[in-house]
Amino acid sequence: MFFRFLATVSLLNQIRNSHAAPASEIDRYPIAPAIRILHQFPNLTSIENIAARPNGKLLLTPLTSSSVYSLDPTSPAVANIIYTFPNANTLLGITEYEPDVFAVVAGPDGSNPAIPWVIWSLDFRKCVTGNDVPEAHKIATLPKALLVNGLTHLAPGSPWILAADSQLGVIWRINTKTGRYEIAISDLLLAPGTAFGITLGVNGIRISGHHLSFTNSLLEGGLFAKIPINLITGAPLGNATIIARNGVCDDFAIDTKGNAWVTQNVLNGVQLIKPDGSFSVVLGGLNSTVFEGATSAVFGRTVKDRKTLYVSTNGGSGIPIPGTFRVGGTVVAVDTTRIGG
Ligand SMILES: *[C@@H]1O[C@H](CO)[C@@H](O)[C@H](O)[C@H]1NC(C)=O
Ligand SMILES: *[C@@H]1O[C@H](CO)[C@@H](O)[C@H](O)[C@H]1NC(C)=O
Ligand SMILES: *[C@@H]1O[C@H](CO)[C@@H](O)[C@H](O)[C@H]1NC(C)=O
Repeated sequence: MFFRFLATVSLLNQIRNSHAAPASEIDRYPIAPAIRILHQFPNLTSIENIAARPNGKLLLTPLTSSSVYSLDPTSPAVANIIYTFPNANTLLGITEYEPDVFAVVAGPDGSNPAIPWVIWSLDFRKCVTGNDVPEAHKIATLPKALLVNGLTHLAPGSPWILAADSQLGVIWRINTKTGRYEIAISDLLLAPGTAFGITLGVNGIRISGHHLSFTNSLLEGGLFAKIPINLITGAPLGNATIIARNGVCDDFAIDTKGNAWVTQNVLNGVQLIKPDGSFSVVLGGLNSTVFEGATSAVFGRTVKDRKTLYVSTNGGSGIPIPGTFRVGGTVVAVDTTRIGG
């Protein structure tokens, strides 16, 4: 998540003024065949997060409504609403915590603080072919949370999921069986940073080996870090350490080599951060319209697409590229074997 809570015109203008972006589309790689726009939503639909089901379908959570979309990468012309959560106006993190069962963050958008942060379960196990409507139930309401953002499952078979709180600067753990929740990790590197009048800290979280890797969107200008954790309890086993000072960033995916593919939101690109901490922008860039407002990324789950990175965008709903039109949130498919992945 980045902008909806945060009225960030000044950030946008400052970024814009520091780079002379042109009116034309400039993308670093040829659009096809390495990069395909799978689906573009209508204007003002901001896609915040993305997950892949075992059958290959993608689940998309919008910041701009409480409806979850399903998108089939093999026939992406239509994205179907498969569930709408009550009493929520924004959706953020999504993670699979049992095979084909997902947890989703639903919450307020700032306009109605009475709406609580809730973790829901969406269970697709009983779906018959052609019908993607899941069974839903509430896992937990988190009245003490301030801004629940990235979600991840702790370990295979574990009842625990972890949730990044971008304003409290902590990681919550939530028991998917009992609904119990508490702070699992507090660390200085989770804390919110403030830049240009915005306050935002830990954002994307993913388990990588015995660590929790995470982005911090704004602290010290934005960074990517990791913290060793106990995979049974989620408790930290040491302090977090910085892998890269990679600037403003949002959510990410980790590939089989341990590289992180990190979305840059307002910077309209995707970075590849290697385990040694070296990094570069490999997709899009400040002048890109294809990766405009890149928010999250996930690898495919089937034999055919496990090296395909699916990138979600908010369409630049915070920062239309000068001279171009704002578009709706987009899902872009990237064949990473063609771009050094
Ligand atoms: C964006 O466009 C400007 C003007 O053409 C150029 O100077 C700059 O290098 C471009 N930035 C990127 C990241 O491609
Ligand atoms: C962890 O961080 C705290 C707070 O900065 C510090 O006091 C402590 O010495 C650190 N521990 C290690 C093992 O570096
Ligand atoms: C989307 O918004 C832009 C900017 O307001 C506008 O120019 C464009 O026509 C809109 N597109 C659609 C499909 O409504």
